[in-house]
Amino acid sequence: MTLTAVVHDAAEIVTLESAEDAGDGEIDEDELGIYTDAAVAVEDGEVARVGATGPVTREFPPENAEHAIDASGKSVIPGFVDPHTHALFAGDRSDEFEAKLRGKTYQDIMEEGGGILRTVRATREAGDEELLDNLLGHLDTMLAHGTTTVEVKSGYGLDTETELRMLEVIDRADDRHPVDVVPTFMGAHAVPEGRETDEYVEEVVDDQIPAVESQGIAEFCDVFCEEGVFDVAQSRRVLEAGTDAGMTPKVHAEELAHIGGTQLAAEVGAASADHLLHSTEEDVAALVESDVVPVLLPGTAFGLGAAYADARAFLDAGADVAIATDFNPNCYSQSMGFAASLSCVEMGLTPAESLVASTTNAAAALDLPENVGTLQAGSPGDLAVLDAPTYVHVPYNFGVNAVEAVLKDGEVVHR
Ligand code: NIG
Ligand code: FE
Repeated sequence: MTLTAVVHDAAEIVTLESAEDAGDGEIDEDELGIYTDAAVAVEDGEVARVGATGPVTREFPPENAEHAIDASGKSVIPGFVDPHTHALFAGDRSDEFEAKLRGKTYQDIMEEGGGILRTVRATREAGDEELLDNLLGHLDTMLAHGTTTVEVKSGYGLDTETELRMLEVIDRADDRHPVDVVPTFMGAHAVPEGRETDEYVEEVVDDQIPAVESQGIAEFCDVFCEEGVFDVAQSRRVLEAGTDAGMTPKVHAEELAHIGGTQLAAEVGAASADHLLHSTEEDVAALVESDVVPVLLPGTAFGLGAAYADARAFLDAGADVAIATDFNPNCYSQSMGFAASLSCVEMGLTPAESLVASTTNAAAALDLPENVGTLQAGSPGDLAVLDAPTYVHVPYNFGVNAVEAVLKDGEVVHR
């Protein structure tokens, strides 16, 4: 056994050991499993023990550890899990941010040839190495902001060759970078220029999905179920074909309008339904009933100037709500801390709920083992040391990165 790391004398360590099986939506501060004047020891990459500094450091002396961190005055939380991003793309769309500020809508920009299809053009033109460099750069930024696991979708290829290339690059980035990358196939992210929707759906089902299945990288299959993009029947067709090919469904549901994507997510047994800005009471009930994780993306509402998802409705119904960055060219933030600030100020989550939403509940949206996003014996040694005395500083210190150091499997990967 190798003693990989000991982080000691922390003002507090938030373990989330009981939040993981609470399973009843709302989170009280006492469910966070907080130790004060605490230490965590990581052996062979896994948490061996968390507790008061005295007993932990007697059993696991910091001087014997590969990495010893004195965390006096600081707090320690599990690394963030970001369960929804489109972090692999080429090109720049900062001018669309300006256009939106001048009053253009997301749909106006799409109609003028901007938006997703513009990124598709740039991504198809980019070489594999440029794409890989872009993704690795964004993963560095995420890591520096405390994210240790992230989901990344394809969907800027919209043809078999480029979709496979994107998944290959996502897989290479996962090998090369300390952040764990969970790959999602999203050939049904938009309808390519000059194509008819039904006919493109047939391409996704008949060509792309079989090729993605034999490539063997993607774990999830996602679809943009949206007015003017893929309707419920088309989305269902894609998700059922994805399931037959061994991928678990996910749905972009009710982002710009209410068309029934949430009910679809419940019916196909999706791991998550994401966005949910226009969900109804029946939608909330359907998700809770069928154990689909609602993934809320406050940065997207912020960037679109749209109304936020009704997070309280999900929490009151007992849903284990997750939050994500939705990092993409239209929602340009890699920071889970910023998403947490927005989730508190704009969606009414408590800081405790926002922490659970960005760790254990986010891990559930990716079907990860239950102890991912917690710090207890057996959890991965994935943690963030905050330059602040309590975890509340993550959302409280808005616009500033509270993360000072990050450990992945007990190795110091950012400091
Ligand atoms: O989750 N909604 C669809 N996809 C992204 C936007 C992608 C883009 O504009 O490039 C989203 O918001
Ligand atoms: Fe998205």
